Amino acid sequence: MERLQKAIAASGYTSRRKAEDLIRAGRVKVNGEVVSELGFKVKKGDLIEVDNRVLEGENKVYYMFYKPKGCICSLSDEFGRMTVVDFFKDVNERIYPVGRLDYDTTGVLLMSNDGEFANLMMHPSSHLEKVYEVTIDGLITGETLHQLEKGIYLEGVKTLPCKIKVTGKDMEHKTTMLMIKLVEGKNRQVKKMFETVGHKVKRLHRSQVGTVNLKGLRPGEYRIMKPQEVKELKTLALEKKIKNKR
Ligand code: URA
Repeated sequence: MERLQKAIAASGYTSRRKAEDLIRAGRVKVNGEVVSELGFKVKKGDLIEVDNRVLEGENKVYYMFYKPKGCICSLSDEFGRMTVVDFFKDVNERIYPVGRLDYDTTGVLLMSNDGEFANLMMHPSSHLEKVYEVTIDGLITGETLHQLEKGIYLEGVKTLPCKIKVTGKDMEHKTTMLMIKLVEGKNRQVKKMFETVGHKVKRLHRSQVGTVNLKGLRPGEYRIMKPQEVKELKTLALEKKIKNKR
């Protein structure tokens, strides 16, 4: 059950506030009856009409976005910063980011209007693998890497085992390039993990989520995901979720 104005907004017809105006004006019918009360609750399957036209459910859409630096993963920002949604001006559906990347982090970000899909992708037990390219300050030792791979304590909770590979070292500037594969996504996890062992993250880029990568995209560009890709991600997440429940 949800409020009528919320159901109208969720269909993509208009905003919640404008839906309230329509209801007050007597322009909305539920199962053939005019409803002008704002608290009215509707359930799945109820027929909603605006100006005698049946409201279609919003199509589920899925996008792969190459998040550039300098935008936040939110629908709006109190400080007026750019958000990832600003890149989707041509998209009518009410999409939002599936998960988060920091303001200065680049890379794979899924965008969708499918709440069930978003919940599944973000659920801690889904253990969806994410691959990050990281540049850190300092030359990290094998012992520290081993410690990170086994799991370290962040705010009292141990991180799950992960895989790390050193991909380059800059002896002159004393920085290390690495690739890290995580199966969880705590807030600012990569930065916190390296900071905890004394290395500041200078650059962070997510190159892959599950089976999808950035192939063919430049920063700020997006593409519609193929139904097969969405299905693969759902299957991956569901399989892991079931396994982790056992
Ligand atoms: N970990 C971080 O620290 N930041 C991100 O943006 C993503 C993962």
